[in-house]
Amino acid sequence: MTKTITLPGLIDPHVHLRDPGQTHKEDFFTGTSAALAGGYTTVLDMPNNAEPITTLERLEAKIASARAQVVSDIGFNFGTLGDNFDEFAKVIDKVSGLKIYLNVTTGNFIIDKDKLATIYEAWPGGKPILLHAEDDVSDLVFATLRKVPKATHICHVSSRAELEFVLRAKDEGLPITCGITPHHLFLTAEDGEKLGPYGRMKPTLKSQKDIDFIWQHLDGVDIIESDHAPHTREEKDSDTPPFGVPGLETTLPLMLTAQQEGKLSHDKLVSLLHGRPAEIFGIKTDETTKVEVVLEDSEITNEGLKTKCGWTPFAGRRVAGYVQSVTLHGKLVYENGKVLAVPGSGTII
Ligand code: NCD
Ligand code: ZN
Repeated sequence: MTKTITLPGLIDPHVHLRDPGQTHKEDFFTGTSAALAGGYTTVLDMPNNAEPITTLERLEAKIASARAQVVSDIGFNFGTLGDNFDEFAKVIDKVSGLKIYLNVTTGNFIIDKDKLATIYEAWPGGKPILLHAEDDVSDLVFATLRKVPKATHICHVSSRAELEFVLRAKDEGLPITCGITPHHLFLTAEDGEKLGPYGRMKPTLKSQKDIDFIWQHLDGVDIIESDHAPHTREEKDSDTPPFGVPGLETTLPLMLTAQQEGKLSHDKLVSLLHGRPAEIFGIKTDETTKVEVVLEDSEITNEGLKTKCGWTPFAGRRVAGYVQSVTLHGKLVYENGKVLAVPGSGTII
């Protein structure tokens, strides 16, 4: 007999839905459809659009596009290169956090490192600053946080060294949290080589030793973030493949598999995918928002994915379960592979 479990609606604070500007990769309808198919009822979108979201005007255009299309709830992280401080007060009530890139990635939306402390001082505080901060910049992050101790979330920790840095900062009492992506937990650098451009993302995939260290120290990890970063096959197969892989539809099945293998408890799974993201990003939860999951051996396939890019680096993997239905604020919005919600019915948070 198959077993069904109910989970609270999952929350992903790190997705790139590409709308507006790159809707050939994804748009707010396909991206939030992928969210529902993966059991997510709230996503927070990143600001590295073709035209980065660094002004109230661009944020409002993005919100307008989302308002017409989303089938899950959605919020937005704001962007900065350190030259838009006047915009901070104007957008603070409309965003979930501020994203800062300290390393190169898709969009080349990277700050001049000398500006980090000034940006920290300018950000009104309260809502978290999300950092793309790999190992090489950990000293800078430490120094900045000691000087300006504002809530900071380190995105996609990928190595032992990066996690050790976060654990040290936590021990010191600094206001820091961190997230891990499923690709950094379930794919090694070797897998990445086999996947070629489809295993190319930032941060890069690491060794089995790094992965083992992260699993062993999962207590110190706050959330799982998919870093859903869709690119078309054509772009991935080109001479200059962009960084990033989709993740919204595969994260929960992979984490359920890890739970079945005894790598984490059910409570920790719910905390990583729902409880802590809600706390860190101040997202209201609602008991009528929930996900029915079938715990049954199944295979991840490219066919039937809702993401517009139509592929996943996990195709062919066997996993321990899949999402059967999603209820958002009391309304059935997804069932048996079909999105039932009307475009625009999700809430802008
Ligand atoms: C992301 C993208 O494609 O926007 N790519 C990635 O490899 N993760 C950007 C990012 O989050 O670094
Ligand atoms: Zn990202």
